[in-house]
Amino acid sequence: MPSADFTSWTKTLPQWHGLLRISPERPYAHAEDLYDAQYGVGTAEPEEGQGLCILLQQQAVDTSGPALEIGCGTGRLSYGLARHYPGPDFLVTDPSPTFLRITQNQFVEPQPDATRLHFALLNADDLGQLPEEMFSLIAMRSTLHHILQVEEFFASCARTLRPGGAIAMGAEPVEAGYVLMAAVAQAIAPTLKAAGVTMKPAWQAQLTNFTDTVQFYCRRDLVKVTAEDKHLFTTHDLSDLAQSHGLHLKYFPNATFSDFAPPEAPEFEGFSVFFHTYLKYCMQFDEEFLSEIRLHLQSQLKFIDECYSSHVGPAVTGVFLFRKPAQQ
Ligand SMILES: C[S@@+](CC[C@H](N)C(=O)[O-])C[C@H]1O[C@@H](n2cnc3c(N)ncnc32)[C@H](O)[C@@H]1O
Repeated sequence: MPSADFTSWTKTLPQWHGLLRISPERPYAHAEDLYDAQYGVGTAEPEEGQGLCILLQQQAVDTSGPALEIGCGTGRLSYGLARHYPGPDFLVTDPSPTFLRITQNQFVEPQPDATRLHFALLNADDLGQLPEEMFSLIAMRSTLHHILQVEEFFASCARTLRPGGAIAMGAEPVEAGYVLMAAVAQAIAPTLKAAGVTMKPAWQAQLTNFTDTVQFYCRRDLVKVTAEDKHLFTTHDLSDLAQSHGLHLKYFPNATFSDFAPPEAPEFEGFSVFFHTYLKYCMQFDEEFLSEIRLHLQSQLKFIDECYSSHVGPAVTGVFLFRKPAQQ
């Protein structure tokens, strides 16, 4: 059953080339069509959205109202969420019309109930325009660190969330883990030199780009208006933000949404694996450089993995679930 409030609200929104328009369109900073290839993602996989729905069920989040996804990109989370979310409607959003089209194209097969999917242009900075207590779920994957006004964003989320609902965020960068990755990276050039390996100029450029990126992400005294990626978070930043907006945070260190989907139990792959995966897919290090790093930085990476052989860490990412208490 579609939600009556949601349906009447969407009827008030202007249309733009078949999309609902809450914000003006804005392209992504990088080519949208190449996004999946860069991250080595293939055809749509339901595990992320399915895992999120299982997590919501496990945590007894009320999912009786509509869901909103912010920053859908190519639909990595949207695909499974559309199939598994038990609530009445699902509003999939992004500021980029190209990303919205790519995500829409994942739903070409007939849907069991096509009316529950809606697509809108939305910049998170305009979240204050959403109706009060409209959504049971606000879902995001790898999007919070792009949003400029994080404090205002949480205030708007808390306002548009229904009591008993939740904001779920996955794949956000955690500060200490990223700084540790960059610190390990500082040792790459001297270690390769000591081993008699010549650093190619392209490798030096990849390395500098990585360490500069982490430093930019981390700094809080720089103007970040025009940058696409803006913030690294500490878990206590997010916990304080939650508290100041009446939300309760539960953090699952280094978990992904898909960890909650069958058959796996939540299990972090280890720092060295995350490090290599990040350098390969996010920072585009070439294979030859990566294999030199694997060979010559083995002892540093092994040391960190062994420190965390008894528990999950260091925190580099994870799932953040912010719950709004149900009305008494
Ligand atoms: C790193 S991509 C993640 C895409 C997708 N969620 C995924 O997990 O693959 C970040 C997404 O956030 C969107 N985005 C960037 N700035 C935004 C903003 N201010 N408000 C809403 N979405 C934003 C981008 O267009 C992009 O789709």
